[in-house]
Amino acid sequence: DTPTPTARAAVLVARRIFPETLARLRQHFDVDSNDADEDWSQEELIRRLQGKAGVLLTGTQRVDAALLTACPRLRIAANMTVGYNNFDVAAMDAAGVVGTNTPDVLTETTADFGMALLLAAARRVTEAERYLRAGQWTRWTVDLMAGAEVHGTTLGILGMGRIGQAIARRGAHGFGMRVLYHNRRRLDAATEQACRATYVDKATLLREADHLMLVLPYTPENHHTIGAAELALMKPTAVLVNLARGGIVDDAALAEALRQRRIAAAGLDVFEGEPHVHPGLLQVPNVVLTPHIASATLRTRRAMADLAADNLIAYLTEGRVLTPVNR
Ligand code: DGY
Repeated sequence: DTPTPTARAAVLVARRIFPETLARLRQHFDVDSNDADEDWSQEELIRRLQGKAGVLLTGTQRVDAALLTACPRLRIAANMTVGYNNFDVAAMDAAGVVGTNTPDVLTETTADFGMALLLAAARRVTEAERYLRAGQWTRWTVDLMAGAEVHGTTLGILGMGRIGQAIARRGAHGFGMRVLYHNRRRLDAATEQACRATYVDKATLLREADHLMLVLPYTPENHHTIGAAELALMKPTAVLVNLARGGIVDDAALAEALRQRRIAAAGLDVFEGEPHVHPGLLQVPNVVLTPHIASATLRTRRAMADLAADNLIAYLTEGRVLTPVNR
């Protein structure tokens, strides 16, 4: 007797990922993969998803009601990111589609980058490098590129999830900072103690922080949670770091605050409407700008791809989900 072949599920890998991860997926599934790493339109994504049971994608690709209606065979969308504001979770719930993300594996790497942006902005690292490369450095002077102190200052953290806590530990233990935080929910006492962090309301956080780090998930409710009014509460010597998502900060208001030196500097890894960057931000010297790379070490990106792949494998072969966002 010839054994009946079991039907292999078909999955789409919507971005170029690592060959090893792709090979592992191919052991379980028929895989269609965006090896050329093309920027597919939403229509193209939907076209490629026809007949697919799963998709591995990144935060720039949307899973919304229209896609779910057009792709009735889809059962799981596995984000290769921890943020999942590209998912319409209510529509996914209604369609019975599981969404997964990649928590934990990027926490420490992303927190490292938060400190890198804070240090670079406070100590004017990129501004100083531009000055040197432009041949403007002719002599050592007492106040040349003098910046703001980081160690021993007060660090404010808005959003105290895994990454916020990892930044708090770095600030408190590594840089001797006093750490204040604000979060939707207050942490339990043991976690607060481990991070040496004190809970305050948002206005107090804005007023008291020497440096403010944004690490909260983006939701429609916190759109422009940092705008002109909030920037006005901050110290004129403060540095603002956005590691979270564009849209949390009103970039036009921030550019204006930086131009007028109403705050000292900013370090930004994420932007409203990225990869477009508000022209006002490109014009001011007191901001460090990076292209959404906070989790970008090869080891971490590989771990993110592997976890997304593991979610597809666990769910489509055994009905288990490892890191669901809507279960
Ligand atoms: C994340 O994982 O959410 C990072 O922002 C990369 O998109």
